Amino acid sequence: MKTQVAIIGAGPSGLLLGQLLHKSGIDAIILERQTGEHVLGRIRAGVLEQVTTDLLDEVGVNQRMHQEGLVHGGFDMLFKGERHRIDLRRLTGGKNVMVYGQTDVTRDLMDARRAAGLTTIYQAGHVTVHDFDSARPRVRYQQDGLTHEIECDFIAGCDGFHGVCRASVPRGAIREFEKIYPFGWLGILSDTPPVHHELVYANSQRGFALCSQRSSTRSRYYLQVPLTDRAEDWSDEAFWQELRLRLDPQASASLVTGPSIEKSVAPLRSFVTEPMRFGRMFLAGDAAHIVPPTGAKGLNLAASDVKFLSSALIEFYQDKTEAGIDAYSGRCLRRVWRAERFSWWFTGLMHRFPENGDIGQKFQEAELDYLVNSEAGSLSVAENYVGLPLNFGE
Ligand code: APR
Ligand code: PHB
Repeated sequence: MKTQVAIIGAGPSGLLLGQLLHKSGIDAIILERQTGEHVLGRIRAGVLEQVTTDLLDEVGVNQRMHQEGLVHGGFDMLFKGERHRIDLRRLTGGKNVMVYGQTDVTRDLMDARRAAGLTTIYQAGHVTVHDFDSARPRVRYQQDGLTHEIECDFIAGCDGFHGVCRASVPRGAIREFEKIYPFGWLGILSDTPPVHHELVYANSQRGFALCSQRSSTRSRYYLQVPLTDRAEDWSDEAFWQELRLRLDPQASASLVTGPSIEKSVAPLRSFVTEPMRFGRMFLAGDAAHIVPPTGAKGLNLAASDVKFLSSALIEFYQDKTEAGIDAYSGRCLRRVWRAERFSWWFTGLMHRFPENGDIGQKFQEAELDYLVNSEAGSLSVAENYVGLPLNFGE
């Protein structure tokens, strides 16, 4: 088999890259280790920056998002038992975020790919990448007991944090930066109306909580929990009780509870790989970087990576220049580090760090008091939350 770009991984990064390349007539095959149903079974954050919705508009995978997505012009920060609104729309001169689940984005991209008759090979076993330091990279995989080989011009490593692409780079050619946080997020999905029409990020002495949503009838809530806690340790009742204790009296009284339809604990990590290009192999999305979910930057960073990558590949094929390819890693990393910084800072501001003691809590409350009451402070939060422009600072 031959293709121009072999994409490893059919998560949001790989699927969006596939659509962007297809629109410019560049041929790509996607190899995915799991089944499509398995990929859709992962529940992740659901806040899209305008940069991301613009990209989904560009590839025409936007109908359901505009019908069912919820446009939010602000969110609440809760501390010392009181909520304060960050007016994103006013502060940023009209920008919003779109609350639309990552699962839905992935499903829409899968449907569009299938409708366009493009090749995705699911359940591709033992994927290996070869010769990406030459002009003729190859990818091998196993299926039905046979080994298959794909010859390509480029490999796009969109295979997530545990993928094979980053792991195939010689150790001396790569640098990794990592911070692991001493707690996790216990998340619940429930068919109950959201406690508030916008998101609520809560700093409480009992730990962080987040009230999010998927629709007017489906809620997503999170609690900061010790890393040792497992989802099965938490009954639904215990979850709702703890959530009430971390919210303000009004939210706590009006919270509608019900059975969970999903419950899981996710660890929090900041992680960046430098560089993001190795000869003719590129890393994009979670394969190259992870952010803690506070601020929901993960999917948005994946989207901007693949936008930079598709532009570089289109330039290569149409204008016969390698300039975009050479600039890929630097352009991505600049944006990645800005989002990493914001996610790390927002995590530090909102979570309970027992090792920092009561004075740590007081510092957080003083900073929150400053942020919500200062125009400059609120603007800094707002412009990072809605997402900095793709060419910011260039
Ligand atoms: N061979 C083929 N496919 C693989 C391999 C492999 N060896 N290893 C992993 N994959 C697949 C995974 O099964 C998964 O479907 O690659 C895909 C990677 O998808 P994601 O983990 O969703 O990563 P990405 O597409 O970069 O999406 C980034 O996901 O984790 C969130 O917050 C993050 O929202 C962001 C988004
Ligand atoms: C979510 O809805 O799952 C969500 C929203 C905002 C975040 C993280 C997760 O910051």
